[in-house]
Amino acid sequence: MTAPRTIGIGLLGLGTVGQGVWKHLTEKRADLESRLGVRLDLRWAAVRDPRKRRAVRIPRARLTRDAAKVVDDPRVHVVCELIGGTGKARELTLRALRAGKVVVSANKALLCEHGPEILDAVRRHGGQFLFEASVAGGIPIIKAIREGLVANRFDLIVGILNGTCNHVLTRMGEDGLSFAEALREAQELGYAEADPSLDVDGIDAWHKASILAWLAHGKWPPRARTLVDGIRQVSPADIDFARRFGYALKHLAVIRRDFARNWMTVGVYPALVPSRDVLARVSGVNNGITLRGDVVGATTLAGRGAGGDATASAVIGDIVDAIGALTGGAGHGISAEALRARERLGRGVRMGSLDEIVSPFYLRLSLLDRAGVSEGVYRVFTKHQVSIARVIQYEHPNQGRGTVTLSTYPVSERRMAAVVRELRRLRTVLGDPVVLRIFNPES
Ligand code: NAP
Ligand code: HSE
Repeated sequence: MTAPRTIGIGLLGLGTVGQGVWKHLTEKRADLESRLGVRLDLRWAAVRDPRKRRAVRIPRARLTRDAAKVVDDPRVHVVCELIGGTGKARELTLRALRAGKVVVSANKALLCEHGPEILDAVRRHGGQFLFEASVAGGIPIIKAIREGLVANRFDLIVGILNGTCNHVLTRMGEDGLSFAEALREAQELGYAEADPSLDVDGIDAWHKASILAWLAHGKWPPRARTLVDGIRQVSPADIDFARRFGYALKHLAVIRRDFARNWMTVGVYPALVPSRDVLARVSGVNNGITLRGDVVGATTLAGRGAGGDATASAVIGDIVDAIGALTGGAGHGISAEALRARERLGRGVRMGSLDEIVSPFYLRLSLLDRAGVSEGVYRVFTKHQVSIARVIQYEHPNQGRGTVTLSTYPVSERRMAAVVRELRRLRTVLGDPVVLRIFNPES
């Protein structure tokens, strides 16, 4: 009997995700080895500071500051890039792919911003690139799109893709925490990015939405043609008002595709979700994604979207797939063939214009408390042919101001932007209007 082949694994980064991967790979090693028929050699973990205290026990001899040494080690077959960012991570990922190795990555920023370069390295050098952990933490959404739901064309993909935003909105809305307190908690729990503004300003969700758009429709949406908004402007008052209107306030990524006119739109923003919709009930660190396919109908996947354990689950799934391919099975990573299929899918797809992105809106306006002020506001809506569906008016006695919240019927982004521009110019409108989209699952 021949001895089982040994597969070497090198981790680049041993932070929240890296420690989760090390811990669970170590604990599940015997199971995985018997399932795969190989020996697993967790050879290295590259870190910035080998003396840092960590939650996992790891022999000092396995730690190195020299990440390139891990990539170049001929006995490392699978390189897991868990450093993050687009500097060192890009350099190391390309180095591994140019050596024809397998790279497993949790790095959505890198794939979104340097996707074509990375995928070109896969095509030229015959390696594999797997990135399940880059979108929606432990939810196998990449696999679902590429494999389980492959018979479908999706006219709508809508999801809560950022665990930090969902945690913050849930804690503000349900437990009365301030934005700063809820964000600090998300950072302590290991959910947030090293720079948490990527989370709360919507950039991380945009990275993930771009990856899903490319997977489903074969086109990378340019940043300038995507609506990207975060949750800084959301206050507990908006969450409360939304509830009274029959909605939950969620940070959504919305990818729409019109197959007849061959356009796609991508937006990430806080939105009011009808409380009967399944996404309205996805709370805390959880993510949820509804895919509307022409064959399957609407299918929703939900689960933990961030954190070391959930993300490790996705990384280990990719490692197992990669080993399957290395030992003669079918590969699940992005291969040259899979890339050609994506290219065919994206041929001729254009980005939808601001006239083609239509939804109802919610606005909260702070107004000077004076007779006739509301009429001036309504005139702006009438001028731009935007119909108001509902109005709630509050007065704050002695403060000289009132609050008006209103919702509109569906209107294009362009028209709504014109309304908001004009409202900002009114001297009776105090401060910046809060403008949120209302998600309509039926449209
Ligand atoms: P993290 O906790 O900040 O860990 C980063 C790790 O990289 C640390 O161990 C750090 O070393 C190491 N590192 C940084 N620069 C290095 C260098 N030049 N050479 C070698 N090691 C270096 O980050 P994370 O939260 O685990 O995230 C890692 C990646 O996973 C990111 O792309 C992130 O977007 C993605 N992701 C994170 C989550 C999550 O829930 N956190 C979920 C999904 C995907 P030291 O420990 O010595 O400082
Ligand atoms: N910072 C990310 C989030 C990590 O909160 O969703 C998971 O990708």
